[in-house]
Amino acid sequence: MIPTQTLSRFIHAQRRRYPDSTGELSDLLVSISLGVKLISQMVATAGFKGLHGYTGETNVHGDEVKVLDEEADEVLVELLGSSGHFGLLVSEERDSVISTDATHNEGKYVLAFDPLDGSSNIGSSIPTGTIFCIFRKKDESRSAINDDFCQPGTNIVAAGYSVYGAKTSFVYSTGSGVHGFTLDPSIGEFVLTDHDIKVPERGTIYSVNEGNTAFWDERVKEYVESLKRHDATAKGPYTGRYVGSLVADFDRTLRKGGVFLYPVDAKRPLGRLRLLYECMPLAFIMEQAGGAAINGPDRVSELVPSDIHQRSALITGSPHEVNAYRSIVHGSTR
Ligand code: AHG
Ligand code: MN
Ligand code: MN
Repeated sequence: MIPTQTLSRFIHAQRRRYPDSTGELSDLLVSISLGVKLISQMVATAGFKGLHGYTGETNVHGDEVKVLDEEADEVLVELLGSSGHFGLLVSEERDSVISTDATHNEGKYVLAFDPLDGSSNIGSSIPTGTIFCIFRKKDESRSAINDDFCQPGTNIVAAGYSVYGAKTSFVYSTGSGVHGFTLDPSIGEFVLTDHDIKVPERGTIYSVNEGNTAFWDERVKEYVESLKRHDATAKGPYTGRYVGSLVADFDRTLRKGGVFLYPVDAKRPLGRLRLLYECMPLAFIMEQAGGAAINGPDRVSELVPSDIHQRSALITGSPHEVNAYRSIVHGSTR
């Protein structure tokens, strides 16, 4: 069968719907998709090359850096930094904002990414992934500045993620629905497999690191217990699934519904995940698919990062489960 809807054709077809568009964003998305193809190949072959170990460095979050974290970061910084479209980049693996090239940050957009999410799972055949989001500079007449990353998720121009698992997938949104692609290794192209993904209104799966129960607030414990009770109006107690790679847990939640949560707790009062390049892009995707994403009391998409590496809680998934969290834990239904 001839794959008529490859990712690049789809992106360009979407662009043609906006006659004034310069095509810059389309170029960027195609560049990102090339980056994730390269990372996917690195992840798949790392075992043969002995690349599953640590670099000996610790990143800004205090995590030990894996060789693959660093390699994935370099691929994206080199590829996207030289594209001419991005003023500045933020990577989970770099302490400060990255200046792109000698053109003095003239690009129209800024990009934040987690080059390799779930890298602690490398070496055990568990999926990992890449997450990104793109903002337009606050003022296009000047060079990009760090403050261009301090925008709410409602200003995101495009966001997406890739999962390197049993297949390599690429899921993205530019604000007109969420579209999913699968890498066809025989032609090296992403092919459209899931047009306009919508999260079910209610699901049957919950996803949380229950090893943290002792640190949770009583109301979070109560919420998770409520999911485990048999409920006559539901299909029964929820099923638990926790991969420990956010992209993989999120991808399942998006497609099957239910809830993923990493709440604040006594050990991590600000949350575990990163706001700018984990929570905000995924919240954008989930909302575009008809779902919800909150940090507890507030909608993630309305938060404005004050620090590029700021932590956040994340509760995301089907509207039903996220609303139940809001009502049990925060006593509100908003
Ligand atoms: P990263 O590998 O990019 O540092 O992200 C790790 C994150 C995320 O992938 C996952 O959901 C979470 O860490 C797992 O945390 P716990 O081990 O605390 O459950
Ligand atoms: Mn991550
Ligand atoms: Mn990472």
